Amino acid sequence: MSRVVLAGADAELTRRVQDAVDGDVHALPPGRLPGDPTRLFEQLVDGELPDVLLIGTLAPQAEVLTLAGRLDVQCPGISVVLVAEPSPELWQAAMRAGIRDLLPPTAGPAEIAAAVDRAGSAAAGRRRVLRPTQETASYTGRVITVASPKGGVGKTTVATNLAVGLTAAAPQSTVLVDLDVQFGDVASALGLLPEYTLPDAVHGPASEDTMVLKTFLTQHPSGLYAVCGAESPAAGDAVTGPDVTRLLAALAREFRYVVVDTAPGLSEQTLAALDRATDVVMLSSMDVPGVRGLRKELDVLRELCMIPAGRHVVMNLADPRGGLSVRDVETAIGTGVDVVLPRSAAVPPSTNQGVPIIASGRRDPVVKELRRLVARFAATPLVQPGRYRAKHRAAS
Ligand SMILES: Nc1ncnc2c1ncn2[C@@H]1O[C@H](COP(=O)(O)OP(=O)(O)OP(=O)(O)O)[C@@H](O)[C@H]1O
Ligand SMILES: [Mg+2]
Repeated sequence: MSRVVLAGADAELTRRVQDAVDGDVHALPPGRLPGDPTRLFEQLVDGELPDVLLIGTLAPQAEVLTLAGRLDVQCPGISVVLVAEPSPELWQAAMRAGIRDLLPPTAGPAEIAAAVDRAGSAAAGRRRVLRPTQETASYTGRVITVASPKGGVGKTTVATNLAVGLTAAAPQSTVLVDLDVQFGDVASALGLLPEYTLPDAVHGPASEDTMVLKTFLTQHPSGLYAVCGAESPAAGDAVTGPDVTRLLAALAREFRYVVVDTAPGLSEQTLAALDRATDVVMLSSMDVPGVRGLRKELDVLRELCMIPAGRHVVMNLADPRGGLSVRDVETAIGTGVDVVLPRSAAVPPSTNQGVPIIASGRRDPVVKELRRLVARFAATPLVQPGRYRAKHRAAS
């Protein structure tokens, strides 16, 4: 039986859906549908994500299509079924937004039950492909990989600020890994002088015992732990994809948040980090070459089925004088933009001084937006397919 969440429904539809699924439905309070899935699911009392989101006729169609489009890319393990008067135009718009099925407003319990069943099976299938259960079963922490097709767009800035921000939410339980294996600069951005670096963490005794691994980490005054980048490009090159896989698995067993900074593009190490990620922060500068690169990278990752369930699109270096609007970017990349970080004169000095701007106490617009990014992770319940299925079965 699938877990069903119902939104935008009147009392009559709620009753028919309850009949269809034997009462096993969580109805969200009436009101506007947020475009951001995180906000929608924050309303769930038990914090568990659904298999099927059923949306009734009270929700305005424009809002439904925006939300469904974002769910399709951010939470592909959730199927959306819309109750609406079907028309060829709506079918087309619904298909583009990734909506699984349309049900007429007059649909009875049997028709609703059949649609929920189909949508639930599709959701389960997508989750199996995205993340085989046995591979993630032992994971406890959330692995957040920060990636971008191009260099110099702010990956290290975002990764270090996100990690320091999450440390406030999970003191002593956040670790930042510098996987820019050749030219990593996390140590410099955090003002750290590491005794051990990435190659030490993946080879020798640290690779065999998690307790030993912890002694190879560098601590930041905020309470954040870090695996800093190699001292030379040659030493970094000795770190392979399987090394990365093992390291992230070990860290995710020990830490609540594992934030990963990467080199530009899709190196072997970055692909390994994406494969282990529960979330990806896809970053781009807000300009035409950056956005085109982002579109291509998203397409490639989609083809490889390597987009984790949590996908967060972040535009950096936004400048009103640049001539690109968020809407232009969303049209170009075919998905929503989640956070926009403005260009700020305060960021380069913070990088140079080795003090992430989020920890500087400054009241800068970029700090406000970075905090919004942190809140996406600190506020969202982590739902892993393995844990989710087990819990659901126990409840049903
Ligand atoms: N929002 C911003 N406003 C102004 N400057 C920024 C902003 N974000 C990043 N920068 C600056 O841009 C430069 C590059 O940033 P950063 O090193 O984080 O990029 P990167 O994507 O990690 O680069 P690389 O691909 O080389 O690793 C840094 O000097 C940083 O201070
Ligand atoms: Mg960098």
